[in-house]
Amino acid sequence: MGRRRVNLRLLTETAHAMVAPGKGLLAMDESIGTCNKRFAGAWIAPTVEMRHAWRELLLTTPGLDTCISGVILVDETIRQSAADGMPFPRLAQDAGLLVGIKVDTGAKALAAHPGETVTEGLDGLRERLPSYVALGARFAKWRGVFALDDARLPTRACICANAHALARYAALCQEAGLVPIIEPEVLMDGPHSLARCHEATESVLRSVFQQLVLQGVVLEAVILKPNMVSAGLACPARSTVAEVADATLQCLQRTVPAAVPGIMFLSGGQSGEEASGRLNAMHDGARSPCPLSFSFGRALQHPALDIWAGQAANRHAAQQALMHRARCNHAALLGAYSPAMEVA
Ligand code: 13P
Repeated sequence: MGRRRVNLRLLTETAHAMVAPGKGLLAMDESIGTCNKRFAGAWIAPTVEMRHAWRELLLTTPGLDTCISGVILVDETIRQSAADGMPFPRLAQDAGLLVGIKVDTGAKALAAHPGETVTEGLDGLRERLPSYVALGARFAKWRGVFALDDARLPTRACICANAHALARYAALCQEAGLVPIIEPEVLMDGPHSLARCHEATESVLRSVFQQLVLQGVVLEAVILKPNMVSAGLACPARSTVAEVADATLQCLQRTVPAAVPGIMFLSGGQSGEEASGRLNAMHDGARSPCPLSFSFGRALQHPALDIWAGQAANRHAAQQALMHRARCNHAALLGAYSPAMEVA
C-alpha cells in the first residue's frame, strides 16, 4: 500500500499560524472524566448538557482571536453544535480560530511498571483521522505522561514506549494532513527538585526527537508542547521565575532541533499568574530555539470556570475572566506581562 505524500506546504502554514505572533492555543480537550472532575471542584453537575454549555461559552467569547490562534477540541465537542445549530468547528472557524482535536484515548497503566502509564489510541487511528479532517480539524494532539520521583521514575521503558507512540501518531497525522502537537508531559506533581525535572525532561525530549526522526516525521510540520522545567508542586523549595525560565530554555536548546516551527507550553497545574509570569520571563528574545507560546488548559480556563459555576447569569463574567487570562498570556509573549495586570 503506497503512502500518501505529506502536503508539507499546508502543514507548515498551519504550524506557523498556530504560533502567530502574540497568540497561543486554548486547550479545551479534557476527556469526559477529566472535565467532570474539574466540574466537581466548582460544584457543576457532570452532565453532557453542562459540558456542552461550558464549551459553547468558551467558543463564543468575543475577541478570543486577538490572543488565541486555535482551540483543541475533543471527540465529544467536535461533533456538537451551538444552540443556534452552528456546528462547534464552524463556530470556531468563523471566530478566526484554527480547530484541533485530541486523538489519543488516554494514559493507561504500563504493564510491569508500577506508577507509570503509556498513552493509547494508535489502533484504528489512520481510519479515524480523515473524519476529523472532514469536520474541519487542522491539527491534532497526543499527550504522553511521565511521572517523576527523586529516584526511579520515569523508567527507560516508560520513556521509550511513550516516545514511540508519539512518533507513530505524528507520522499518521502528517499523512492525513494534520499538524501533530507532540505533548510529552513530565508531571509537576510531587516533591522533586528543579534539577531532577531538568534531567528527566531533557531525557524525555531527547528520546522523543530520536523516535520522530526514526518514524520519518517531518520536523518542520510539528508543534512541541512540553512542560516547563520547575521543582515539583510539593517541593518545599519553590523555583523562582528566573530559575524556571533559564532551566526550561536550556533544556529546549539542548534537545529541540532548529527545524521545529514552534513550542507551545502546557500549564500542568501552575496557577494562571505563575504560568504567565514564567512565559514572560522566557521572552527576552535571543535565547529561544523557535517561537515559544502557550497551549494552556487550566491556566486559561480558571478562574472562569469557578465564576461560571454552571449558571447562565454568570456567562458574561466568565468570558471576561477567560479574556483576561488570554490577554495576560498575549502580553507575556511580547515580554510585556507584569503582575500589576492582575489587579482589577
Ligand atoms: P493544562 O494546561 O491544564 O496542563 O492542559 C493542557 C493540556 O492540553 C493537557 O493535555
